[in-house]
Amino acid sequence: MIEMQNVWKIYRMDSVEVIALNDINMKIEKGEYISIIGPSGSGKSTLMNIIGCLDRPSEGEYLFNNKNVSDYSDRDLARIRNRRIGFVFQMFNLLPRYDAIKNVSVPLLYAGVEGAKMEAMSRNALVRVGLGDRLYHKPSQLSGGQQQRIAIARAIVNNPDIILADEPTGNLDTKSGKEIISIFKTLNEQMSVTVVLVTHDPSVARQANRTIEILDGSIVTKSSFEKERGL
Ligand SMILES: Nc1ncnc2c1ncn2[C@@H]1O[C@H](COP(=O)(O)OP(=O)(O)OP(=O)(O)O)[C@@H](O)[C@H]1O
Ligand SMILES: [Mg+2]
Repeated sequence: MIEMQNVWKIYRMDSVEVIALNDINMKIEKGEYISIIGPSGSGKSTLMNIIGCLDRPSEGEYLFNNKNVSDYSDRDLARIRNRRIGFVFQMFNLLPRYDAIKNVSVPLLYAGVEGAKMEAMSRNALVRVGLGDRLYHKPSQLSGGQQQRIAIARAIVNNPDIILADEPTGNLDTKSGKEIISIFKTLNEQMSVTVVLVTHDPSVARQANRTIEILDGSIVTKSSFEKERGL
């Protein structure tokens, strides 16, 4: 469902050029659970932004559901982001004045779903992440792990094809982080949502079915010797 062919991302600032992605080739099939690891500044978020259609490659082809993203207008891309992709971020990015159910409803409002249907879909998403008893709490009245679960409910409320999570456990303690990871695993296994998760934490990365390692904007290819030994 995702394919990159010779993708480069180059940031130019005055005379300085940063090569954030250096000739990336990869494929992600529907239903996969992938982790992306690599040191700070290696290009993980840049790659996620392109996968999520938040940004476009400087060079190369990106195909989302077999269609070349360069053929889409910015408006088309906004629609794809809203309907097909669920985003989860390290800082949760919730609206502080809205309760849980209203936060989860935001993507539905953009999609034109309103009223009782919106309410029911948002409630259902919150139940799926185990927050059925916190529908009317505001973010400040919830723990970090619970806030991240609202963010996951918001990401899945539109039944996306893919969930993109950039360091979703980065602001959580170990126990809450584990709970969040097990939610992604359940969503992947039970609803066959494709999951792509960026993490610094090797124990989180190991939960995925496949790990993509990035170094200096390139994907690290491992020998079969290293793969067999989990190196
Ligand atoms: N908007 C931008 N303008 C210019 N340079 C950028 C921009 N975004 C990222 N970069 C540069 O691109 C490189 C890759 O950044 P990126 O944010 O993708 O790294 P990362 O792997 O997500 O790091 P971290 O683990 O710290 O989040 C870095 O050198 C960064 O400085
Ligand atoms: Mg990053």
